[in-house]
Amino acid sequence: MAVGIFDSGLGGLTVWDAVARRLPEVPFVYYADSAHAPYGVRTVDDIHDLTRAGVTRLWDEGCDLVILACNTASAAALRRMQEAGVPQGKRVLGVFVPLIEAMTERNWGDQSPPREVAIKHVALFATPATVSSRAFQRELAFRAIGVDVEAQACGGVVDAIEEGDLILAEALVRSHVEALRRKMPGPQAAVLGCTHYPLLAEIFQQSLGPDVKVFSQADIVAESLADYLHRHPQMVGSAGETRFLTTGDPRRVSDGATRFLRRKIDFVKA
Ligand code: SIN
Repeated sequence: MAVGIFDSGLGGLTVWDAVARRLPEVPFVYYADSAHAPYGVRTVDDIHDLTRAGVTRLWDEGCDLVILACNTASAAALRRMQEAGVPQGKRVLGVFVPLIEAMTERNWGDQSPPREVAIKHVALFATPATVSSRAFQRELAFRAIGVDVEAQACGGVVDAIEEGDLILAEALVRSHVEALRRKMPGPQAAVLGCTHYPLLAEIFQQSLGPDVKVFSQADIVAESLADYLHRHPQMVGSAGETRFLTTGDPRRVSDGATRFLRRKIDFVKA
């Protein structure tokens, strides 16, 4: 049995890369819905329907556990999918909860009531759909009290990264950080709430300054998945390898992925 990783495109490779390094014995199937990326500018219904289709495909591939690497899908579709019910023996998990647990210094799955935490001022950088969903603030409120979150929708960054235009992506990040600072001059922490942003983590850190703790999800998700699989060993088999599926043009997506991760990645048609 493999673990499914669902993403709108290439960004989730940052999460896959971290989890595959952390869990080399676990097989993965990575699904990139490149034909419909980016999700961050789509409607909630659209994001839900596309996410549901991709996750169902991964369940059909035998992945009992699917991780939504895409923050926009986690924000706009996960709760609705879970409320509608998932098939017996299948699970779908998002990326916000592990991130928030790390930020609020909670153990995985800690269900205790929300409490005061050290970090009081948080900057959230994410896609327009993630920001307008307020899913991050909702999940945070279940775990912490008295935390002020200022969200900045980072229009254009995902497109620039997917097109390989890192100069434009960096310039956009700097201007989004400036815009955030005008609303919240002194954030203590920043959450990179999009799979693509870890690639520009240094630019975020430089623009925010050394006093701001930047939370980037790839390593946090890898750690929490390792913990989850330790407690649910029946969810996976052995012999780690990854199959990469895409709804887009496999050659184009493989080229983009190879450029993105700086190593050879081969996608096949989903
Ligand atoms: C997108 O598809 O717009 C970005 C992916 C994400 O939100 O993590």
